[in-house]
Amino acid sequence: MLKIGTFTTLTTLTTLTTLTTQMNQQTVLVTGATSGIGLMIANKLHENGFKVFGTGRYPEKHNVPFELLPLDVTSDESIKKCIELLLTKTQALDVLINNAGSSLGGAIEETPVEQAQKLFETNFWGVVKITKAILPLMRERGSGKIITIGSYYGLIGAPMVGYYSASKHALEGLFKSLRLEVKQFNIQVSVIEPSFYKTNIAASGERVAVTIPGYDRIRKRVMDFVRQAITTAQTPEPVAGLVLKIINTKEPKFSYRIGRNAWFLPALQFLWPKRFESVYLKMLKF
Ligand SMILES: NC(=O)c1ccc[n+]([C@@H]2O[C@H](COP(=O)([O-])OP(=O)(O)OC[C@H]3O[C@@H](n4cnc5c(N)ncnc54)[C@H](OP(=O)(O)O)[C@@H]3O)[C@@H](O)[C@H]2O)c1
Repeated sequence: MLKIGTFTTLTTLTTLTTLTTQMNQQTVLVTGATSGIGLMIANKLHENGFKVFGTGRYPEKHNVPFELLPLDVTSDESIKKCIELLLTKTQALDVLINNAGSSLGGAIEETPVEQAQKLFETNFWGVVKITKAILPLMRERGSGKIITIGSYYGLIGAPMVGYYSASKHALEGLFKSLRLEVKQFNIQVSVIEPSFYKTNIAASGERVAVTIPGYDRIRKRVMDFVRQAITTAQTPEPVAGLVLKIINTKEPKFSYRIGRNAWFLPALQFLWPKRFESVYLKMLKF
């Protein structure tokens, strides 16, 4: 009898603990969770008990421990379907991580406008559209966190990645403004500005097809510098750790810089712009 009572009490306690965990479990959407920074973030949050929905353009190609939804951020139809599917699986979203992004290398003059616009469709408009689709859910609920993966190239100008840098600068302006607009709804907005982490971004990004010979020397220098910086950088665990820290912070800041030189170069540019240019160009071996 005593044994049955103890067993019943233990079962009830286990059920209550599971129910409490499920009730307290935060739900998060991570765009671009198939590789690099997004995959690391989604894995970290999954391991820490979050209900994670990741996205990728070809989810069937990836075997991950969290749920992966199909999403191409450059397609309105794909965004609509992804959000509809998400809403069949959860009614509430606590955290949105805007991570999906791509890169484009080449001089501003030699890059066709169409190619630059395509980059903006992913890095800027894709982020805008996902954020706008999620905002009503958070606003009606009166809570939420939106964390966007920007870049330290969104804080400094950088040769040969001008359109990438511009797309990340655009995100900075947008989310600084959004932060002020949605504070009244208890929605918190932050941007993480990493420098270099070892991911697929350099390999999967685009390059200009037709080049102008006058830029050959500095294009090669910068591309070599970026490739070297990414391949010798550490894997993005620290960025995933930072995301967890921001989620657990009651009142997060707007800007979080992380990685080699992520603090130094933007600070130098702000405090001593002339010195920044000479230091940075020397670093790039111009
Ligand atoms: N690595 C760095 O050093 C670094 C530094 C600063 C900022 N960042 C930023 O970090 C973010 C992640 O980049 P990463 O370095 O982790 O690169 P990555 O390994 O190439 O991962 C990019 C992710 O974005 C997704 N993606 C790309 N185009 C997409 C589209 N049109 N629609 C939906 N998803 C798309 C990819 O998913 P699928 O291909 O499976 O669809 C993939 O999951 C980007 O915003 C990047 O700008 C990276």
